[in-house]
Amino acid sequence: MCGIVGYIGNQNSVPILIEGLKRLEYRGYDSAGVASINLGKSDLIKVKGKVSALEEKVKHEQLQGNIGIGHTRWATHGAPNETNAHPHFNSDKTLYLIHNGIIENYSVLKTALISKGYNFNSETDSEVLVHLIDSFIKKGNDLFNSVRYSLNEVEGAYGICVIYSDEPDKIIVAKKGSPLVIGIGDGENYIASDVNALIAYTSQIVYLEDDEIAVVYKDKFQARSISDEEIVKEVHEVKIALEEISKGGYQHYMLKEIMEQPESVRNSMRGRLLYEDGISKLGGLEGFDNRIAYSRRIVISACGTSWHAGLVGEYMLEQYAGIPVEVDYASEFRYRNPVIQPDDTMIFISQSGETADTLAAMKEAKRKGALVLGVCNVVGSSIARESTAGVYIHAGPEIGVASTKAFTSQLVVLSLITLLAARKRNLSLIDGKKIIEEIDSLPDKIARILKINDQIEHIAEKFVDAKNFLYLGRGYNFPVALEGALKLKEISYIHAEGYPAAEMKHGPIALIDENMPTVVIAPKDSVYDKVLSNIEEVKARKGKVIAIANEDDDQIDKLVDHVIKVPQTIRMLMPILTVIPLQLLAYHIAVKKGLNVDQPRNLAKSVTVE
Ligand code: G6P
Repeated sequence: MCGIVGYIGNQNSVPILIEGLKRLEYRGYDSAGVASINLGKSDLIKVKGKVSALEEKVKHEQLQGNIGIGHTRWATHGAPNETNAHPHFNSDKTLYLIHNGIIENYSVLKTALISKGYNFNSETDSEVLVHLIDSFIKKGNDLFNSVRYSLNEVEGAYGICVIYSDEPDKIIVAKKGSPLVIGIGDGENYIASDVNALIAYTSQIVYLEDDEIAVVYKDKFQARSISDEEIVKEVHEVKIALEEISKGGYQHYMLKEIMEQPESVRNSMRGRLLYEDGISKLGGLEGFDNRIAYSRRIVISACGTSWHAGLVGEYMLEQYAGIPVEVDYASEFRYRNPVIQPDDTMIFISQSGETADTLAAMKEAKRKGALVLGVCNVVGSSIARESTAGVYIHAGPEIGVASTKAFTSQLVVLSLITLLAARKRNLSLIDGKKIIEEIDSLPDKIARILKINDQIEHIAEKFVDAKNFLYLGRGYNFPVALEGALKLKEISYIHAEGYPAAEMKHGPIALIDENMPTVVIAPKDSVYDKVLSNIEEVKARKGKVIAIANEDDDQIDKLVDHVIKVPQTIRMLMPILTVIPLQLLAYHIAVKKGLNVDQPRNLAKSVTVE
């Protein structure tokens, strides 16, 4: 969601805040703002639009100060405009606040504050907080206690930073439900909603937990609980190289991340394949292997692309480990009364490890007594820390809003969990070894697909003006159809739907005509002939077909309008290959439409609100 940064030290905070906001812009990019305190005097600049617009305005107006906070917004309450942009401020313009999250009881608080004479500038829920804090200050409290007392009245989720020109030696930060980290420097300290914003400055990171509040000075920090007990925080060393979060010569992060997949997939399996034993070794699951393998049931829960990965995981685990699996949207799971028993295992998949719905579903599963596993990309993220055991996918930072390399790495990790559980149960050594060989060969096969990028770009050119797309797949490739459609709609704004190929005749077939392209995922597997029949049904209605097929398949060429060929592998791993042309197809269509693929409208990379 929104991105938050803060700085306190001896340097001018403003360029540091702008730099940090640029690295966080994937979290939200409809408006931005910074506030700083200079010699006891505070100032503020806000813009509608991107951080680059803020940077221009800041240069022009020469904002500076040794202490400052900055924010890039993804609107929840109130339109994306300058007034609703953060930081928000009190009427004296002495107190400034940035907020990531949602204040659920804001309207009750707002009514109470208005009755006390407070005026509101914006339509946001966040502004309530700044006036509430102000009301405690006006009663004679210091900044720290005013923030603490205010948060005790708040329901909802927040990561906040507050500065006050009457106490210009500190930033107050607090967290509940939304991520917040403190970066420790030498005589200076940093704050951010995401480590990525800080790695240019420090690798020493403190993760704030829910219900914690900290006072950050330039040379120290003190953490306390919201009920005012002292808390001793550990400082973590975070190892992310700056190159990992740059575009590395590519036009977009998304393309870079698609192209990185031979390596990111390799990193997901590195050191985890025990060929001689035909099994995987997952350090984060040690001690839980048997518990997982003999679960009565596995429930996978996630959102978005990670949910699609979960659907593939269902096919994997049921086919090889013979364990019943259910896959649930985290947002649905948390608001049902799901039947979870102590011998159930729940796997929560999340690239960011911060998705609010997934985190809440995880907490509920824990309360119900299931074994709770996390499959995350971001090391030290909330979901990773909340889980009882888990596996990092090690895909490296993913910045493009549309998830690509995280998906293929999630699938690799799910295949490793499957292998582990299956070998503990009925899978033979020989079959285990075969799976390992196939997993190990994936990076080279992905590299082969990436070589036909130009061919895919060429096909994309022909479909730039399409208004609708249908994606079809069966079995393991049904979730890939969903993922292909999601990629296209996220970045090209073309309406696209994914369907199990056989379901087409129960509805979507009514839409097919010469203007409705259909992407069919048709590798040579046990349902290949059936998929061919579905292609015939589309062709009979003059539909255009783009097929994803295997390299040795000549039969399909004459049936369809365009074919993209991928190498063969076992069924379980096929989605890791078939999804790649779909990522590239969506990417090229969006670029040819002149759209900003890394920051598509209305979306955010990390959804830390409900
Ligand atoms: C957002 C992103 C998606 C992502 C989903 C789940 O909607 O735009 O790309 O798949 O959140 O995120 P997670 O970090 O939990 O995998």
